Amino acid sequence: MRSMFAMVVVGFLCIMTDAQDRPANDILLADFEGKTYGDWTTTGTAFGSGPARGTLPGQMHVDGYLGKGLVNSFLQGDGTTGTLTSPPFKIERRYMTFLIGGGKNPGKTCINLLIDGKVVRTSTGPNDKPGGSETLALDSWHVSDLLGKTAQIQIVDEATGGWGHINIDHIVLTDRKPPGLLTNVERELPLEHRYVQLPIKRGAKKRQVTILIDGQLIVQNEIELADYKPDWWAPIELAGRTGKRLTVRVDKMSEDSKALQNIVTSNTIQGSNKLFQEPLRGQFHFSARRGWLNDPNGLVYYNGEYHLFFQHNPYGWDWGNMHWGHAVSKDMVHWEELGDVLLPDKLGPMFSGSAVVDWNNTSGFGKDGKPPLVLIYTAAGNPTTQCIAYSTDGRTFTKYDQNPVVKQITSGNRDPKVMWHAPSKQWVMVLYVELNKRHTVHFFTSPNLKDWKLASVTEGGTMGKDGYLYECPDFFELPIDGDKSKTKWVLLGANSEYAIGSFNGETFKPEQTWLKGHHGKGFYAPQTFSDIPEKDGRRIQIGWFQTATPGMEFNQSMSIPMELKLVSTAEGPRLARMPVKELEKLRIRTHSALPMAMKKPATLLLKDLMAQETLGEVFELHIELVPLGEKSLITFDLHGIAITYDSSKKELGVNGHRVAVPLVDGRLKLDIYVDRTGLEVFVNQGLIYVPMPANISPAHRNASITVQHEPIALGPTRLSPLNSIWHTKR
Ligand code: FRU
Repeated sequence: MRSMFAMVVVGFLCIMTDAQDRPANDILLADFEGKTYGDWTTTGTAFGSGPARGTLPGQMHVDGYLGKGLVNSFLQGDGTTGTLTSPPFKIERRYMTFLIGGGKNPGKTCINLLIDGKVVRTSTGPNDKPGGSETLALDSWHVSDLLGKTAQIQIVDEATGGWGHINIDHIVLTDRKPPGLLTNVERELPLEHRYVQLPIKRGAKKRQVTILIDGQLIVQNEIELADYKPDWWAPIELAGRTGKRLTVRVDKMSEDSKALQNIVTSNTIQGSNKLFQEPLRGQFHFSARRGWLNDPNGLVYYNGEYHLFFQHNPYGWDWGNMHWGHAVSKDMVHWEELGDVLLPDKLGPMFSGSAVVDWNNTSGFGKDGKPPLVLIYTAAGNPTTQCIAYSTDGRTFTKYDQNPVVKQITSGNRDPKVMWHAPSKQWVMVLYVELNKRHTVHFFTSPNLKDWKLASVTEGGTMGKDGYLYECPDFFELPIDGDKSKTKWVLLGANSEYAIGSFNGETFKPEQTWLKGHHGKGFYAPQTFSDIPEKDGRRIQIGWFQTATPGMEFNQSMSIPMELKLVSTAEGPRLARMPVKELEKLRIRTHSALPMAMKKPATLLLKDLMAQETLGEVFELHIELVPLGEKSLITFDLHGIAITYDSSKKELGVNGHRVAVPLVDGRLKLDIYVDRTGLEVFVNQGLIYVPMPANISPAHRNASITVQHEPIALGPTRLSPLNSIWHTKR
């Protein structure tokens, strides 16, 4: 009985505290959704002629208001002043509630309740020092002693310095007692299980959540903590710490919030019975179990495993709270996600970086003859610096106690990629640095990964202009056409644009700069693996595949792993990339069709061409085309996504995105990988790579080929339905 009662009460509070579900007898005094302030009057210039639509120029991001409009006196910055006053109204309810943000200057940045021109209640915003937050929060006044009186609301901005503005929205008279706001609320739990799981609701107000173990700070994040029913639980892995005392502290929480009560500790991830069966889970692209991911970090082969670290927000669907997530694989195809290894600390959130195996133990981090795995990352605090961490088991990582190892150059310095340069017997770091509105790569050298010396600077182009390098640099040497006696160095940026040149251990001399990288969309911050064994010798790259997965408990994914090569072309050597051969393991079977010509305009179902009942949901398709006329147009409809080739324009279309593609010896070779969350198209042996995020509708499960205008010959066609990496053997 007790628990049933508790459930009913929770449901009731849920409804009652949702501001948009106001009981009918509440009186909305102002929602500031109009173009003007209506019959409210202004003095001065801080409030302008009507409500703001969110953030104003030069202001930090404003949120927490309702609808689209709010009062925001940051108009033309903090220097402006003025007042905004309501017409008289009668106080007919016992409470007045409103959303408030901005400066904490009593009497100067405030909202006042006036009776007979006198201030009878007043509130300010929360900020009185640099930094802070532009999020509006609920505030309220108890006004039952003023029932029946005629009053006015006056919003004041008489402050001109830092935080010299006030933000207000949604003023309501109500009889419902507003929940009070508690500060520094704590819950203590014994640590008996592997995971502690925090309840998350997308769009909930961000709270500062601190985790302490035996009173020691472990991590602090800004989290959309669910006050009531969560969308999902964010697992924090605390294995190896059982028996200790865990404290979860929340900076501010409404007194009726259930967030702390709803924390779960267990040995399995909450909802894990549905893990990897989500409708938008890419079937052969890595994605995190929970939360947001972006750049691949620290790609390295160590102790017989491929390691994929990644930019991870374990607590949210959106970017934020950067941690380094961690997954391992024996084949780069099937990944096992482990817990996060780098958590934000007093030096800042953990931004992108790389990993190396320190074979000669130059760092001294090795143990019992085991070479250490060293992570080199950006701590994006103020200042923003480069730091290192190490491990000798590839599982537990220790941050170097004398971090940082590279001090801030500018606040826009980040994403160190490190490699061992054998000829000069030293470590080389390439670091992205925004310098006077220009992109640069700073080259550093080090004997031991701890002491770094600036060696040279390479220009990466002007910010905002086409043809440039942008953040997350990668730097490696590749043979031309596989001939090891002819090598070039490649410097590549997050946007995949690259330069080719030579390197003497200190300075990169570009010969060709900022060549176009990929030709599609949603592929960013790629990185290549370090320490792939010499007998393998491949240069393998994974990029962030920007596949949004709305409504899921996770967001974004990684591209498939690709082998990079430098191949000669008429214009000089160029990068080509093709999927790694390990992916072939996923083929369930392979159907082939013999070469044929489609002579007349017609549509052919791919399953008929392959003489198969069905093609499967996710698949690879390898096909060669020979347009037999100047105006051949071929369209592949792959589960509703169109890939076209127009021979009159020599243009490939992928989901409407056009790419100039010349025929090679009169033909076009396409290797297409179709997953639930997008396609990756490799053209002419990977000289052109067209990634394309797209959520493929489950309603659309047909694939066909249509020829229009002039005939087309199809070379041998191969199609392989693919297994899911989540449900097949590693
Ligand atoms: C690129 C990037 C990096 C940074 C990281 C932060 O996507 O902006 O420059 O280190 O993401 O998540």
